[in-house]
Amino acid sequence: MVASEIRALFAVAARPEIVSLAGGMPFIAALPLDAVGEMAGQLVTDRGAVALQYGVAQGDAGLREEICQVMSQEGIRAHPDEVVVTVGSQQALDLITRIFVDPGDVVLAEGPSYVGALGTFTSYEAQVVHVPMDDHGLIPEALEEAMTRLAAEGRRIKFLYTVPSFHNPAGVTLDAARRARVLDICQRAGLLVIEDNPYGLLGFDGEPLRALRADDPQGVVYLGTFSKTIAPGLRVGWAAAPPGIRDRLVLAAESAVLCHSSLAQLMVREYLATQPWREQVKVFRELYRERRDAMLESLTALMPEGCRWTRPAGGFYVWLQLPPGVDSKAMLPRAISSRVAYVPGTGFYADGSGADHLRLSYCFPEPDRIREGVRRLAEVVGAEVELRSTFGATPRSAVPVKSRPAGMIGPADVTGPADMTSPADVTSPADVTSPADMTGPAGADVSR
Ligand SMILES: Cc1ncc(COP(=O)(O)O)c(C=O)c1O
Repeated sequence: MVASEIRALFAVAARPEIVSLAGGMPFIAALPLDAVGEMAGQLVTDRGAVALQYGVAQGDAGLREEICQVMSQEGIRAHPDEVVVTVGSQQALDLITRIFVDPGDVVLAEGPSYVGALGTFTSYEAQVVHVPMDDHGLIPEALEEAMTRLAAEGRRIKFLYTVPSFHNPAGVTLDAARRARVLDICQRAGLLVIEDNPYGLLGFDGEPLRALRADDPQGVVYLGTFSKTIAPGLRVGWAAAPPGIRDRLVLAAESAVLCHSSLAQLMVREYLATQPWREQVKVFRELYRERRDAMLESLTALMPEGCRWTRPAGGFYVWLQLPPGVDSKAMLPRAISSRVAYVPGTGFYADGSGADHLRLSYCFPEPDRIREGVRRLAEVVGAEVELRSTFGATPRSAVPVKSRPAGMIGPADVTGPADMTSPADVTSPADVTSPADMTGPAGADVSR
C-alpha cells in the first residue's frame, strides 16, 4: 500500500459514519473553552504589545518557570535556564536529531516507536535500530545486547529515544526498577537518553511516575508538551537539557523559527498561572480512563480468539496483536468499508515490520462510539480469520509474526513470554511512517 492510497483511505475515514480509532487527538471539547477564550482576549487587550511581538529563541522566561513547576510533578528539579520552548515536542525531536545525527548514525528506539519520531530520524538519515519491549516497557537486557552488538560492528549510536510512560503506540510503561537499569546502562556507556514524555501526567492510577531526567539531569534530555494536557493547537512544547545541549538547541531553534509564537506562549503561561490546570488534567484523566475501560471491555467481549492487546495504565493507546496470518495493513480497506479505522502496526517500525499489530486509540470518540468501533473491528478480524482458515495465508502474512509481549491480554487472557524482537536488518521506513501520510484532507489525522 503506497502513501497516496493511505491518504485516500484516511480521507474516507474522516466521514462521520466511520468510527475512527486511529487518531490520537486529545478531547479538547473537555476544556473550559469559554474561560480560555476570555483569558486569551484579555491577554491581547492587556499585553498585546508583548503577546504580538517577536520573542527570544529560548522562549518566554515566565513560561519556562511555569514549565519547571509542571516538571516537578515528575520529580524533576530544573532551573528555567535549562528549558528551551519548542513548537510542540515534535520540534524538539527535530532539533535534537538535527544537532546529533549524521547520516548513517544509529538511533536506538523502542520497537514499536512513535511514528513522528521515526519520520524525523529517517529524514536526517539515521539508522533506527529497534529495541524490544514487553509489558514493563523497554527490556534492559535487550538494550544492552543491542549496544554490545552495534559496538562490535563499529557503529555509532547517537542516543536512545524512549517514551517511558504510556507509550505511543504500545500503551505500556517502563517500571521503576527498569528506569534505574536503563539509566545505569546508558550512564556506563555514556549514551545520551532522549526521554519523550507527552502522556506522563495522564496516568489512571496514583501519582505520576518519576521521570528519567529526575535521576540523571546530565544524561537525559526531557521532551515535554502541552498538547495532551492543554491543547495541541497551541503548539507549545519544550526540551529540558544540560547546558551544552541547551545552548545548541537555542541556536538551532533560532535558525529554524527565529522565535516561537509569543501569543501561544503567553496563553499557556497565563493558563497555568490563572486557571485550575491540575483539576483540568484530572478531568482529562477521568475521561480517558472511562474511554480506556470502554475499549478494553469491548475488546474482551468481542475480539476473536488469537487477538492480544495491552492494558494501558494511562495515555491514549492500545496495541493489538492480530491472530497469526492476519495483516493489519492489508485489512485496512476492509475495515474502512466496515466503517471503522485504525493505524496499521507497520507505521511504527522503521523497517516496515509490525503488520501483525495495529494501534487503537480511545482518546477522542465517546465510549459508545468506541464500543461500536470495536464491534465493527471484531467482525472484520473475525471475517479475516475465517478467510485465512478457508484459503490459507496470503503472501504478505509470510512476514514473520512476532509473538506477543508478556502481559498482553486476550479474550481468554492467555499469558506468554515477552518477545517483541524486531528483525535485525533495519532499512527505510514503511511508506506510511510520515505523519503527513496519515493526515486526511478533511482532518482525519491519525498520525499521533
Ligand atoms: C510520543 C509522542 N511524542 C511527541 C509527540 C508530538 O507532540 P506535540 O508536537 O504535539 O507536542 C506526540 C504526539 O502525539 C507523541 O505521541
